[in-house]
Amino acid sequence: MTGRPRGPDRKLHGRRKGHRLSARRQALVENLLPRLRVAVGADGSVDLGGPVPGRDRLWLEIGFGAGEHLAWQARARPEVAMIGAEPFLNGVAGLLARIDEDGLANVRILDGDVRPLLDALPEASLERIAVLFPDPWPKARHRKRRLVNRETARGFARLLADGGELRLATDAMDHVRWMMAAVWPLADFAWTARRPADWRERPADWPETRYEAKARRQGRTPVFLAFRRVPRGAPPSGAPGGSPE
Ligand SMILES: C[S@@+](CC[C@H](N)C(=O)[O-])C[C@H]1O[C@@H](n2cnc3c(N)ncnc32)[C@H](O)[C@@H]1O
Repeated sequence: MTGRPRGPDRKLHGRRKGHRLSARRQALVENLLPRLRVAVGADGSVDLGGPVPGRDRLWLEIGFGAGEHLAWQARARPEVAMIGAEPFLNGVAGLLARIDEDGLANVRILDGDVRPLLDALPEASLERIAVLFPDPWPKARHRKRRLVNRETARGFARLLADGGELRLATDAMDHVRWMMAAVWPLADFAWTARRPADWRERPADWPETRYEAKARRQGRTPVFLAFRRVPRGAPPSGAPGGSPE
């Protein structure tokens, strides 16, 4: 039988490359990236490319874009190891430039699709997962490409340690509803918002990304969603904070 594939789309869509890299950034891709690259083996093994300061505490940022948020977090929290996943080479080169300038030792990079890494990392291995302004794919026929969906939400629940945090952001209201529909039904997550300001305003330890700045310039209002991983075996606790709709 043929037909449209059911469930989320696992092909990688979106740009892999943009404008030509400067000589400095090209050199960083050739010389620094191989030392920081996270490799996922065909057998499901994950190689973080040697010892990482903060290895006992792992955060993951998915689709880090130009890397400004990830580099900020790495500077602010040298005791935490940060993995960033991003298939767009120019974004990877941007993060490499920040790592080089600031001498950041606690960052590792997966320069590709994050989903094999989500499958491969062990249960409860992450303290925080951030997916900030994932591609909105506004057309109805493209929604299956959205990175946050029921399958990835279940993966986030598996990967987060008890009490760990999932941070999501978007500037499109239908994408808010979509992400809520993926995460909210899972008893593994409790939405941390207590009042509307909690999802309307970005927390102080969550710097603005390039995409957010562009959205605001263009008159769109971002929404910030934070969920706590309910401890395994504990009864779920909802935390209504008003509706972002
Ligand atoms: C709209 S941009 C937002 C970038 C950044 N988070 C920001 O707020 O400026 C979404 C990013 O997600 C990345 N992305 C898309 N699919 C991905 C995947 N499967 N794994 C990792 N990153 C992905 C894209 O390459 C793109 O850079």
